[in-house]
Amino acid sequence: MRKKIVAGNWKMNLNRTESIQLVSEISKEIKDIKIGNNRIIVAPVSVNLAAVVENQGNDKKIEYASQNMHFAEKGAYTGEVSAGILKGINVNITLLGHSERREYFKEDDVLLKQKVDAAIANEIEIIFCFGEKLEDRESENHFKIVESQIKNALFHLKESDWSKIVLAYEPVWAIGTGKTATPEQAQEMHAFIRNLVKENYHNNVAENVSILYGGSVKPANAQEIFGKPDVDGGLIGGAALKADMFAEIIRAMK
Ligand code: PGA
Repeated sequence: MRKKIVAGNWKMNLNRTESIQLVSEISKEIKDIKIGNNRIIVAPVSVNLAAVVENQGNDKKIEYASQNMHFAEKGAYTGEVSAGILKGINVNITLLGHSERREYFKEDDVLLKQKVDAAIANEIEIIFCFGEKLEDRESENHFKIVESQIKNALFHLKESDWSKIVLAYEPVWAIGTGKTATPEQAQEMHAFIRNLVKENYHNNVAENVSILYGGSVKPANAQEIFGKPDVDGGLIGGAALKADMFAEIIRAMK
């Protein structure tokens, strides 16, 4: 059975002290929440990852992810971080393909496929992000765009690799804009995505992959969005930077 996940993408926010502080505030806020089979992940700035992991102590409720990863093992790639370097600080999850990486750093499907392969080869779990821009939705190309983003970067994988894949549908027009997809729009796209996976692999893979929704998820809308049958949680930006809001969103995952 697939797991529900609430993941916080901190983007380029919080220094080392603030990152450790926020993790400890989240830990306090969620102390009494029964997580069960569900998962909570946060993705701090990469230079602060080691510090938050080391400060974690015995509280294993929160898992840590990188916001990005390079495909090469090592070498002349100034400013980048490899799978091996992440594993060296006990980080075994990475986001890949976030729309801000696609937009500002020109990451395309070809590059993302290389990153996906490197992560899989190193047994790093991937939260693979994708989603259409406003003009794609307005021209009714959103299904086509999402299909190609997923196909180009993921559909060459072996069936067994899918245990390391989490999908995150994030319509670009909803990220940081306060404009959320309606629960119906999210469900419609998530059902479409699950069906794509089913057609390319089979039912088992499709039923087991968690598909998160991202884009202006807040305490006020989380419950309704997460209540849809094909929405398995969320990837949270702005609201992940406040412990009480993030905890409320975690509570919305049943
Ligand atoms: P947001 O960001 O929640 O601030 O819209 C989501 C994301 O970019 O992952």
